[in-house]
Amino acid sequence: MVGCGTGFSACYLAREIGCEVLVIDIEELSIEKAKEKAKRQKVSDKAKFRVGDAHALPFEAETFDALRTEFVSQFLDRERAFKEFARVLRPRAYVGIN
Ligand SMILES: C[S@@+](CC[C@H](N)C(=O)[O-])C[C@H]1O[C@@H](n2cnc3c(N)ncnc32)[C@H](O)[C@@H]1O
Repeated sequence: MVGCGTGFSACYLAREIGCEVLVIDIEELSIEKAKEKAKRQKVSDKAKFRVGDAHALPFEAETFDALRTEFVSQFLDRERAFKEFARVLRPRAYVGIN
């Protein structure tokens, strides 16, 4: 997940679907709040958070089966960011952008 804010959706996916979720957000404070939320909801083992920039994702190529971003793309240089999204996704992976 790219741009988690305070972690609502990441925790939901971990809690309700059982997904392993790797999350980045550019704001340190968002990451701290999201980590606290994951701890409270007992999903810290499944939802991992770190500071990172959507334009230079701190992940190797072809790492993920799916990538999701909610209410973030309006803040991005979409040409650069979407190339990054494609780089970290495996072939035939899913991407969800609103
Ligand atoms: C409107 S909030 C949406 C947060 C969350 N997805 C939600 O729906 O509640 C936008 C988020 O995008 C993050 N963001 C903005 N630019 C970013 C970038 N270049 N890389 C990663 N995150 C970014 C902000 O820090 C903020 O947490």
